[in-house]
Amino acid sequence: MQIDLDFTGRHVVVFGGTTGINLGIAHAFARQGARLTVASRKPENVDAAVAALRQHGGEVQGVSADVRDFDAVGAAFARSAEAFGPIDVLVSGAAGNFLCAAKDMSANGFKVVVDIDLLGTFHVLRQAHAHLRRPGASVINITAPQSVVPMRYQAHASAAKAGVDQLTRALALEWGGEGIRLNGISPGPIDGTEGFRKLMAPTPEDREFARRQVPLQRFGGLDDIANLALFLGSSYAGYISGAVIPCDGGGALESVKPALEAAGAAL
Ligand code: COA
Ligand code: NAP
Repeated sequence: MQIDLDFTGRHVVVFGGTTGINLGIAHAFARQGARLTVASRKPENVDAAVAALRQHGGEVQGVSADVRDFDAVGAAFARSAEAFGPIDVLVSGAAGNFLCAAKDMSANGFKVVVDIDLLGTFHVLRQAHAHLRRPGASVINITAPQSVVPMRYQAHASAAKAGVDQLTRALALEWGGEGIRLNGISPGPIDGTEGFRKLMAPTPEDREFARRQVPLQRFGGLDDIANLALFLGSSYAGYISGAVIPCDGGGALESVKPALEAAGAAL
């Protein structure tokens, strides 16, 4: 069976969509004909992403906004809806992270990750709500494996992403009646990304250690996540809501750990 994933003319917004996994998702929708809005903090990232996405030939606009700023997020959605109309697919994936033992973490260090990942996701969903196509919109929150299996030196991100998953489920309950679906994607280790470099594989030895733990014996690529996003954004996923789906080569079954954590080493 040929799967039809034509998004021609449909409006897709990717918040935190200017680098890495989320930019990979934006590229996939752009290749399928979508009109794209991408947003993140740094204007240079926004400009670079817009230029790269325009190479697919479709309409693209970029907006600079920090997800911690509720009003700035609202202004970004007002602009995107004015240009491209109701939102068919919203991807919320802005995140910040670093390795730090909880006993050494400042209150502000914990807060900054919760503010970006959890409060930021709420800001994005709350401000998007009025602009979502109803019925029919698909919302995809990008989460992480530590939302389920906690990781050492990741107390902040584990707590924040667990909150993101419950937000996904709670709003799937509240917005289902409006014909809006919400789901989460939980990527495993995705090669070539900032999160992977920072957390999982700072050295070649760490990299090999992590690879061997993935049941499929390979890291993910940007397209692995983007393909799932295309599916969740499409009508093929029309009866899927409130699900948080691992896309991790089976990693969730055994909890892929960074070498640092597996060794029980202190930071
Ligand atoms: N270890 C311990 N604490 C750290 C830290 C680290 N590696 N990096 C930052 N912090 C602390 C800071 O010390 C500060 O706390 P303090 O005021 O008590 O000193 C707090 O976190 C905020 O840091 P700041 O640099 O002001 O935050 P920011 O808003 O400029 O940047 C980050 C946010 C720290 C999350 C930054 O890493 C970022 O922008 N990340 C986005 C990219 C990313 O992480 N991608 C991977 C996604 S999985
Ligand atoms: P990344 O390249 O750093 O992507 C993060 C994006 O969010 C960037 O576009 C960044 O752009 C934006 N962003 C960060 N802080 C922001 C803020 N305050 N306001 C608005 N935008 C902000 O990292 P990545 O590794 O691809 O991760 C993408 C997502 O996948 C994250 O949600 C992460 O938790 C998840 N994930 C990644 C992996 C992995 O292997 N990489 C595994 C599991 C889960 P600006 O800097 O311009 O703001």
